Amino acid sequence: MTENDDNEQIKDTDNKNLGYTVLMTNGRPLEMALDVGCGTGRYTLPLAPHFKKVLGLDVSESQISVAKKITMANNVSYMMAPAEKLPLKDASVDLVHSGLAAHWFTLDKFINESVRVLKTRGCLAFHGFVPLFELEYKHLSHDLNVVVKEAWVTLFDHGDNSNDEMICQYQNIYEAIPLKDKKHITEMLQKVPMSIPEFIGFIESLYMCQNFKEKDVEKAEQFLIQTEKR
Ligand SMILES: C[S@@+](CC[C@H](N)C(=O)[O-])C[C@H]1O[C@@H](n2cnc3c(N)ncnc32)[C@H](O)[C@@H]1O
Repeated sequence: MTENDDNEQIKDTDNKNLGYTVLMTNGRPLEMALDVGCGTGRYTLPLAPHFKKVLGLDVSESQISVAKKITMANNVSYMMAPAEKLPLKDASVDLVHSGLAAHWFTLDKFINESVRVLKTRGCLAFHGFVPLFELEYKHLSHDLNVVVKEAWVTLFDHGDNSNDEMICQYQNIYEAIPLKDKKHITEMLQKVPMSIPEFIGFIESLYMCQNFKEKDVEKAEQFLIQTEKR
């Protein structure tokens, strides 16, 4: 983040998605947000109510073309461009955002470009996530989480260290930011309503489960069935 005096207030909103944006915009949209490595626009669109203009950038032509097709908001546009050469004027952007993408960028170039395009008091915000979760359901939360913890042990047996790597990469990115006023938030929870079959589908989509299937498809399927039953 660049210069601001509102740290105390920002703390109150740490655990709310878009909390910083909502606080800074105070109900009035700011001028311009950039979503770098926007993919299909998953995180671009939620910015639309808070800015007069939102521009999603990505190096992938196919991602940009899907984003254009599925985004209806009038103030959101997309363009093919690399994070290392942002197609914007100096001091023209209020927020440079990047979700699950900054670890792919050439970091020093991306940060230099972000600082160049940001206005004074603008904000550079990026995030990644690791899928560690707790389930919540009426009085059954505890029992469900016992099952989930056991499932994780099995899944981690078929994983590599990419979760740790991701955490380490984002720590490095944070440290590389040359701005004085910055903050690393590690406990930002996201609540996602999911049915049990959706949850099992999510586990199945993880690379660890795919590795498990490649090694022993029968055991992997049994693991999914047993987890779902419990
Ligand atoms: C994991 S996806 C995340 C997409 C989106 N932000 C989301 O969370 O759904 C990473 C995206 O970064 C893009 N990307 C990778 N390197 C890039 C670069 N140097 N400049 C711009 N985009 C890049 C990829 O094309 C991809 O769409």
